[in-house]
Amino acid sequence: MRTQVAIIGGGPSGLLLSQLLHVHGIDSVVLERKTRDYVLSRIRAGVLEVGLRTLMEEAGISDRMNREGIRHDGAMMSHGDEMFRIDFAGHTGTPVIVYGQTELTRDLYDAREAADGMIEFNVEDVGIHDADRDAPYVTYAVSGQSRRLDCDFVAGCDGFHGVSRRSIPEAARREYEKVYPFGWLGILSETAPVNHELIYSNSPRGFALCSMRNENLSRYYVQCRLDDHPDNWSDQDFWDELRRRIPQSAADDLVTGPSIEKSIAPLRSFVTEPMRWGRLFLCGDAAHIVPPTGAKGLNTAASDVHYLLNGLRQYYEEQDSEGIERYSERALARIWKAERFSWNFTAMMHRFPDQTPFDLKMQIAELEFLRSNEAAQKAMAENYVGLPY
Ligand code: APR
Ligand code: PHB
Repeated sequence: MRTQVAIIGGGPSGLLLSQLLHVHGIDSVVLERKTRDYVLSRIRAGVLEVGLRTLMEEAGISDRMNREGIRHDGAMMSHGDEMFRIDFAGHTGTPVIVYGQTELTRDLYDAREAADGMIEFNVEDVGIHDADRDAPYVTYAVSGQSRRLDCDFVAGCDGFHGVSRRSIPEAARREYEKVYPFGWLGILSETAPVNHELIYSNSPRGFALCSMRNENLSRYYVQCRLDDHPDNWSDQDFWDELRRRIPQSAADDLVTGPSIEKSIAPLRSFVTEPMRWGRLFLCGDAAHIVPPTGAKGLNTAASDVHYLLNGLRQYYEEQDSEGIERYSERALARIWKAERFSWNFTAMMHRFPDQTPFDLKMQIAELEFLRSNEAAQKAMAENYVGLPY
C-alpha cells in the first residue's frame, strides 16, 4: 500500500492532521494500535484555544463544537477563601471553549469515516524505516498479517509511549523532563458544575480544580500523593476533601453525586528536540507533555498540526520544502512557551512536599501579584486563551 503521509496514532493529533490533509487534497493513512471505542473511552480535558477552534473550522468539523461547546470568558483563581477572576475576553478579546476532548475526537472519527479516510485499527509492531531517506516506509501487523505502507512522509502522532520518538536515534535527540512530586485525583460526576466558570484553587491542603464537560457533567480534581490510589478514596472522601480546598461560597454550592469515573494522573513536563528527523515529524504528545494545569495538551498538539500541515501543503502545492525544513524550529518555539506557562501555573497553584516557608511566601506573593496587577492578569489571559501560532 502507498500513501503520501503515513500517520502513526489515531488520537487527536493524528486524526486532526489526517482530516486537514484530506481537506487540502493530500492523502494519508492512520495506523492506530487500539480500537475507536478504546480511544474514545479516554477522559481528557477540552479547553479549546482559538487556534484549535480555527483548525476545526478548516477541517469542517466545527458544527457540534459550536453548538455544544461552552463559552468561558474567564476563570476563577482562589487562595484560601480569597477568590478573583481572570477576564480572558476582557484582556484578549477572545474566550476559550469548553468541549470535551472525547467529543472532539469523536467528531474527527466521524469526519474521517464520512470521507472514507483510511484508518487501520488494532495495528501491532509498527516500525518506521528509512525516515532519513527519500522513500520512507512503515511496517506493521494486523491480526498477525504483516503489512508495509510506502509513503513520502511519516507523522509520529502516537503519544508519549509511542514508537515514533524512539525511532529517532538517541544520539540525534535531546530530551528535557520534569516530573512533579504529586498527582491529580480526578472524578467525573453527573452533577451540575459548582460554578459556570472553572475554579483553580491553591489551598493549604493542596491544589483543587472545579471543571466541567457540560451543564450536567462535572469534572473535579484534587492534588494527591504520587503513591496514592483511587481505591483509597470513597466518593464521600473526595467530596469532603474538595470542599476543604475550595472557597466556602463554592463549597456551600457544591452539588455532589456518585462518581462515574475516578482516576489519578501523574504530572510531567517533557520536550524532545528536534521534532523532525528526515521525513519523520513528531506531533503532539509524541514530542511533548505538559502538566494539565494550563489545559495545554490538546492545544499544543493542535499548533504542531498547524505547522506540519502548512509545511506539507507548501511541499505538495509549491514544491517548496521550507515549511517542512523549519517545522521543528517553528513548532518548538511555541511549545516552549506553553511549557513555561504550564510549569509556572503548576508551581503557583500546588503545594510541594519540599516547600520551605520562604517558598510558600513566594507562592502567595505570586498569587497576590496576579490578583492585584492588571498586566499580570493580561499575561495570564493571553497564555490561557492561546498565544498566536
Ligand atoms: N502504533 C500505533 N498507534 C499507537 C502506538 C503505536 N506504536 N502507540 C500509541 N498509539 C496510539 C494511541 O493508542 C493513541 O490513540 O497513538 C494515539 C496517541 O494519542 P494521544 O496519546 O492522545 O496523543 P495526541 O494525539 O498527541 O493528543 C494529545 O491528547 O492524550 C491527550 O493529553 C493529551 O491532550 C493531549 C492530546
Ligand atoms: C478538565 O476539565 O479536565 C480540565 C480543565 C482545565 C484544566 C485541566 C483539566 O486546566
